[in-house]
Amino acid sequence: MAALEILHYPHPALKSVAEPIAEVTEEIRVLAENMAETMYLAAGVGLAANQVGILKRIFVIDCADEDAPSELRVFINPEITEMDGEQMFNEGCLSFPGANEDVKRAETVRVKALDAQGEEFSLDADGLLAVAIQHELDHLNGVTMIDKVGKMKKRKISRQVQQAVAELR
Ligand code: NI
Repeated sequence: MAALEILHYPHPALKSVAEPIAEVTEEIRVLAENMAETMYLAAGVGLAANQVGILKRIFVIDCADEDAPSELRVFINPEITEMDGEQMFNEGCLSFPGANEDVKRAETVRVKALDAQGEEFSLDADGLLAVAIQHELDHLNGVTMIDKVGKMKKRKISRQVQQAVAELR
């Protein structure tokens, strides 16, 4: 396994629409493993392929509590087939270090996707998992948290990320 470089806003890959994965090959499984390692190293709960510069429709999520066993989930070609309710969630994103904003999301979602074995599955999610699924699916469509907030907050987020990235260097 190898950790990948996480791209930060305003990298153009974050604004690009990812392409469907035609076949779940060994290469895709290795990508999923590397994305999971990258997510864990960065202490994130989700990571989409756009964030590592790969424009393929795949993301990984692990919303387990820190002291609980890991619950890694791989979503390939995901589609939300049902959504219901509303929740506000204070979201962060590994591509937006230093920024957190309230984003309005559906309370529950049903998502259909392929797993790392290429098997189709359907999952009903609520709470943090539902938020993470919506956030990561947005990434695959070139949409990020900064697209979800008003003008004033856009400027604030942009400043916060610039500052945090400068500190990382
Ligand atoms: Ni994100």
